[in-house]
Parts: sequence; structure tokens; C-alpha cells
Amino acid sequence: MESLFTGANLHAMNRDQTPAQVRAFFDGHRTVRQYLTQPDGSPIRMSPEELDAVMHAAQRAPTDATAQLYSFIHLASPEIRAQMAHLTTNAHVATASEAFMVCADTRRIKQLLEAAGHTAGTWPAIAVHFGLGDAVMAGTNLLTAAEMLGYQGCWIGGIMNNLIPIAEALKLPADVLPFAALTLGRSAENTPYRPRVPRPMVFHTDHYRDPTPAELQEALAVMNPIADRPNKSGNWANLLRAYFAQDGGMEHREPHLVELLKRQGMWAGEGKE
Ligand SMILES: Cc1cc2nc3c(=O)[nH]c(=O)nc-3n(C[C@H](O)[C@H](O)[C@H](O)COP(=O)(O)O)c2cc1C
Repeated sequence: MESLFTGANLHAMNRDQTPAQVRAFFDGHRTVRQYLTQPDGSPIRMSPEELDAVMHAAQRAPTDATAQLYSFIHLASPEIRAQMAHLTTNAHVATASEAFMVCADTRRIKQLLEAAGHTAGTWPAIAVHFGLGDAVMAGTNLLTAAEMLGYQGCWIGGIMNNLIPIAEALKLPADVLPFAALTLGRSAENTPYRPRVPRPMVFHTDHYRDPTPAELQEALAVMNPIADRPNKSGNWANLLRAYFAQDGGMEHREPHLVELLKRQGMWAGEGKE
């Protein structure tokens, strides 16, 4: 029998797509927030085989130090879906085919160490760095797998709108930090293709390079359509201002994240207990 580990086996899995096919697949990505539902508005759940495939894909993500520092909370019951839709201020958590809370998790690795008779070290900054990295990679695999099955999805950073009530509702223990929620469903909307900043600002060669003033203006112009609303042309800078400028949403979210990091034992800065 052929080993799972041979190159021939990988080849047989049709990994050799053309560059144009790869571009086309990733161009098919859209963040979608309105999903096909049952007539009463309840979710059309994924089949068990589809759900198995996306969960499998998540766990096939590469992981630093072999550790798999993440957990997913599968939001399954209508009650928890409704609560999370409310707390995240993203209504599609209730209507999506499937929904998850994607978390950094350095708890299990400590339990595994102890189970093997070892004492866990102290590394809260490392926990955040590698835990979030692992969680994002696994979550991205899950979303990409769903897209391969014809679903679309939406990451939900809106968890930051009620971070601590969400952590409490999901009973997240110490060493577990929610990164974002993720919804999946079959699209019921006509979603635009959203732009990205020009590649030379993002891919640097050999050394980091700040963009020129002209490149910054070009990026603002290129990105304006991402803020388009019905009958109104978008202004990306205004959208960024609402999130990241003084008195914007991110400044308001910051203390809640710091508080949760402290509660979960994942705070490495001043005021560390
Ligand atoms: C970490 C993360 C958090 C996000 N949070 C939200 C959110 O709370 N609500 C929402 O509607 N979209 C959210 N999005 C989706 C982005 O708005 C979307 O990816 C972006 O506008 C680009 O659009 P595209 O994915 O269709 O290309 C989030 C995306 C990411 C990666």
C-alpha cells in the first residue's frame, strides 16, 4: 500500500493547480453576512460530512512547536447563537449554517505537560503570540475549506464589543483567549469584490520600506470602494478613523482586552499579578 507520506500521493491529491486557478479560487473569496436559511429564518446546517471536512482542515493547519495552541467553541444551540449574535452585534451568528468562536488556548498544553509529570513554565507574552498565531492559522484553514465546499463566511472581530460577557457566557477558563468568531453559510447576497492596498506596500524586498506620500494617497483611493454603501460612494479613511483614530472604536476596546488578558492569566505587561 502506498504510504501517506510519498510525493506521489500528494500529487494524486491534485495539488498542482495552475497559477491562474489559484488566483481564481482566492478571488472567489467574499466576506458574506447574509446566508440562505430555512423558511423560518433558522440555519441550514452543514451536512455531517461537510462539517467533518472543515473541522479536519482546521486541525491540519501547521502549528508552532507542535503545540496546537487553539480551541474552537462550536456555537450549536439556538440559544447560544442568539446570545452571541447579540453580544457580537453581528446578527448572522444566529442565521449562519455553522458558527464558531476561535480561541487561543495555552491551557491544554499545560495540562498535557502536567499529565506527563512536568511543570509548565511562565510565558504569558509567548502565549499570546503563538496562541493567536495558531488560532488564526486553524481558523483560516477552516474558512478556506468551507469556501472549497461552496460556502462563504465572515470573521467577527465584533466580539470585542462585549469581550468579557462573551468570555463568561462561553465559560472560557484561564489561558483561553477568544480571537474572533467565524460564521459560515451559503450566500444569499450579491457581494462585491473588495479591494486591497497595492502590493508594493505589503510585500517588501530584503528590507522594510515605508510607503511614499503618493503611495499612501493611491492606497486611500484604491480602497475607497470597500466603504461604499447603497447610493453612496465610500471613504475608506473615514471608516479607518471610526476604528483606529483618537476616540475611535479600538481605543474603547483596548481596556476590555487588557482586563480579559489579566483575568485569563495572559498579561505580560505592567500590573501583572
Ligand atoms: C479578524 C477579522 C474580524 C472581522 N470582523 C468583522 C465583523 O465583526 N463584522 C463583519 O461584518 N465583518 C468583519 N470582518 C470582515 C471584514 O470586514 C472583511 O474581511 C473585509 O472587509 C474584506 O472583505 P472581503 O473579506 O470580502 O475581501 C472581519 C474580518 C477579520 C479578518
